[in-house]
Amino acid sequence: MVVGLKTAAETSDGASLVENEIITERFRYINDEMKQIGTKEINNDAKENRMADVTRQEPIQTETVVDYGVCGEEFLQVLLEGATVPLNTQVPMNSRPPWMDAELMKKGREFGMKYLFGIVYAQMLSLAILFSFRGGLEPLIFTGKSGTPFTAFQRYLSTVFRVLSWYQSDVFDEDSEAHKNMAVVRNLHASISRRMNEANRDDLKSKVTLEGKEIWCTHLETLKKDLNEFKPDCLSCPFLEISSLARNDFTESGKVVYVNQLDLSVTQFGFVALGILYPQQFGVHDATEEDFRGFAHLWRCLGYLLGIEDRYNICSSEDLEVTRARCRAVIEKWAKPSLKEVTPDWEHMFRCVIEGISYYVPGNNFSVAVAYLLWVLDIPYSNLLAKMTWMERMLFHTHCFVLNYMMRIPGNLRFSNFLLNRSLRRARNPSIEWLREKREKVYDYQKLGSPTVGTGS
Ligand code: HEM
Repeated sequence: MVVGLKTAAETSDGASLVENEIITERFRYINDEMKQIGTKEINNDAKENRMADVTRQEPIQTETVVDYGVCGEEFLQVLLEGATVPLNTQVPMNSRPPWMDAELMKKGREFGMKYLFGIVYAQMLSLAILFSFRGGLEPLIFTGKSGTPFTAFQRYLSTVFRVLSWYQSDVFDEDSEAHKNMAVVRNLHASISRRMNEANRDDLKSKVTLEGKEIWCTHLETLKKDLNEFKPDCLSCPFLEISSLARNDFTESGKVVYVNQLDLSVTQFGFVALGILYPQQFGVHDATEEDFRGFAHLWRCLGYLLGIEDRYNICSSEDLEVTRARCRAVIEKWAKPSLKEVTPDWEHMFRCVIEGISYYVPGNNFSVAVAYLLWVLDIPYSNLLAKMTWMERMLFHTHCFVLNYMMRIPGNLRFSNFLLNRSLRRARNPSIEWLREKREKVYDYQKLGSPTVGTGS
């Protein structure tokens, strides 16, 4: 890991100004282009809202407040219906839903900031779960914005800053950074939904897989040995019929709605579930139930703005135990059976996430991350552990020790957040040399010239 990065302005390499420009241009993906989209979206939203004001008989605030207290497995049935319901792009950005509780939301933001280190780690590991669902993985392969370690570095750095802004400022405040980022993300989702749903089926089929491309996949067989030993709670999972990576007949039948309410809700689960279900394992040791309720409420609001209808919003209940039961049901009935069917595409995409993030967070490692997730979810991981290097095993145990015990010591939480924030700031303002080195890095899987699927090292 490079420490002490210089900013682009500090570099004196005059000869490579043009190249610098190119690299900076690519990196601006995170900033300028997105800002513009954001402004456009805000303007569109403002227009939409003005129109909504004219056409709506009743303002949104007067709608009936319903507590969707549907619990656990019953909620999964509701979600299944959501697989055919598209993303709602018409939610007004500047009006608060009637159920919104400003105090609770503030508590949720404070929770996100206080336990940032562990919560970000939980969100990163959740990607392994989300990638085991077709609705979570295929759109990312389709856009091609995170299919290499370098692009994944850019993509997830951008994501973490956007999510951070939702913790730092009030997303309903039109002048806030959170509000601007929400507009950008809504626009990205609307765009991806439009592009995928309007695409020609054959065209789409080749764009949602990495088949025939260079794939970084070295641990799948070992992982499968662990996963095959494990018998999940649910063997005939209805969700797998539509979402398993290993079954590819659904696309052909033409029934898929991309970026649907089910996908959105399951992605929202990825931002909340591990933190509220396994707080100890993610460094959250002295939070109150009200803090967790606040965090779930914050994500209910963010989900609402992102176009999740309340019926499908995993955080829509005011009862924290209902939210926990829903998340638990997703893990036991869907995530665990889905993880058993992961593919080389899954390993490649998750590897890119981990490698991209390791550019600025030292100690981030694919095997360690997967082992930690399996440990948290109570899935066997002995074969994976046996394949890990001595260094990786040590890292794994260090992760366990730091998150489960060290974080209990006052000051450690703040210190970890400080280190994380510093790494993020540095990654956002990298030197041109550092950026070039990362961009030009060639991995073994890229050298071989053919897909490295299977057991290779
Ligand atoms: C609560 C649910 C969700 C949240 C909080 C969320 C969050 C985000 C964020 C923060 C970004 C910005 C990334 C950047 O700055 O580059 C983003 C972009 C994106 N999201 Fe989502 N997302 C959600 C649901 C989904 C779903 C359900 C899908 C697909 C089915 C999806 C697919 C994408 C894609 C394709 C992009 C564009 C960037 C890329 O191609 O990787 N998101 N999302």
